[in-house]
Amino acid sequence: MSKTITFIVQPGGQLRGEARVPGDKSMSHRSIMLGSLAEGVTHVKGFLEAEDALATLQAFRDMGVQIEGPSNGCVTIHGVGKHGLKAPQKELYLGNSGTSMRLLSGLLAGQPFNTVLTGDKSLSGRPMKRVTEPLALMGAAIKATGKGTAPLEITGRAGQLQAIDYTMPMASAQVKSCLLLAGMYAQGETSVTEPAPTRDHTERMLSGFSYPVRRQGNKVSISAEGKLTATEIDVPSDISSAAFFLVGASIAPGSDITLRHVGINPTRTGVISILRLMGASIEVLNEREVGGEPVADLRVVSKPLKGIAIPEELVPLAIDEFPVLFVAAACAEGETRLTGAEELRVKESDRIQVMADGLQTIGIDAKPTPDGMVIQGGGRIGGGTVTSHGDHRIAMAFAIAGLRAHDPITILDCANVNTSFPEFKDLAKNLGLALVCEENSSA
Ligand code: S3P
Repeated sequence: MSKTITFIVQPGGQLRGEARVPGDKSMSHRSIMLGSLAEGVTHVKGFLEAEDALATLQAFRDMGVQIEGPSNGCVTIHGVGKHGLKAPQKELYLGNSGTSMRLLSGLLAGQPFNTVLTGDKSLSGRPMKRVTEPLALMGAAIKATGKGTAPLEITGRAGQLQAIDYTMPMASAQVKSCLLLAGMYAQGETSVTEPAPTRDHTERMLSGFSYPVRRQGNKVSISAEGKLTATEIDVPSDISSAAFFLVGASIAPGSDITLRHVGINPTRTGVISILRLMGASIEVLNEREVGGEPVADLRVVSKPLKGIAIPEELVPLAIDEFPVLFVAAACAEGETRLTGAEELRVKESDRIQVMADGLQTIGIDAKPTPDGMVIQGGGRIGGGTVTSHGDHRIAMAFAIAGLRAHDPITILDCANVNTSFPEFKDLAKNLGLALVCEENSSA
């Protein structure tokens, strides 16, 4: 029996009030991984209790790590040390989570046991050669399908991995992190160079666990010399979840919201930069540092937006926020043009095609291109039925579009909102979105 969830959003409204969105997904994954490999007991606060991060947590339990919680975002991890993981009894099922699969493939390549990584239909269609190819250069033994997709059968090659000096062909924090984790088990110094800055939570958290990691410009280096020492982690709210309300409050006249304790790591704040270029009013208040990561409260007041050509250097810094940024573009006066974002085609869905299809359904002139989209904004947003194709961020983006629609929008296939933001429906309703959620069980 599986559950289908449909969102129905009534047109119009405004967002007002305060909210704290759940913990950062990228940091939640990494807290489990590094906490498990540390010596000692790590306490995590603000952990994201959503399917993706829980898939990582379960994988480490399956490898013998004792983990208490999560309970109200608190997790206690009894670290087993860098060489303390045990062979799992069965394959590690990682659901929808690309981060879990790509980071784990690096970590598991150098273990003294074999593993098989599997995922759901979406994850099983996503490209894995971007990690298996550089890992093979390090001497890893990983078998994927003929198309280079999961399941991944990993033969552990403990003591046999060799360091590489690798320049990534695409700006990917998952590939970078995968290779750094493999580098912790390789002979020599592993270096990864990125073509553009990507999120650096792995590097920051490794330092937080006192593991030596060297950063020089766009190059990060690591070696097997070092150990992880347990620490305390306070995960800030996920700016990728906050993004839905940053856009919602910007586009809905009369809105005024404050989002508390949001992570504003500069490798993640592209959404704020892009919205500001479009004319949005976003204030960054009470800036502070929590556990090596910058955090702030964000106040957003509605303002008319204008279309822009999105600077390409901002793309990796806002890579998960484009579904809802396309909604902002639909509400902005004039043309918005995105280029250099071909990575969007290999996310949980093809986010260029799926968003263009949905925007066209609700009356927007949105033209997909191989590496982006051209949207004529400022026209009338109607309503209709769109499908998220099982992609959490597409579902939430169209829910936000309802704030400026003239007719109801029905969004099919929304169960996957639970992978990153199970509280979305309740928080959105509290802030003023007229959202109803219908659940049906299907055989
Ligand atoms: C992530 C990196 C990004 C992002 C994903 C999470 C991470 O993926 O889209 O949601 O936690 O490292 P890429 O590295 O593939 O761009």
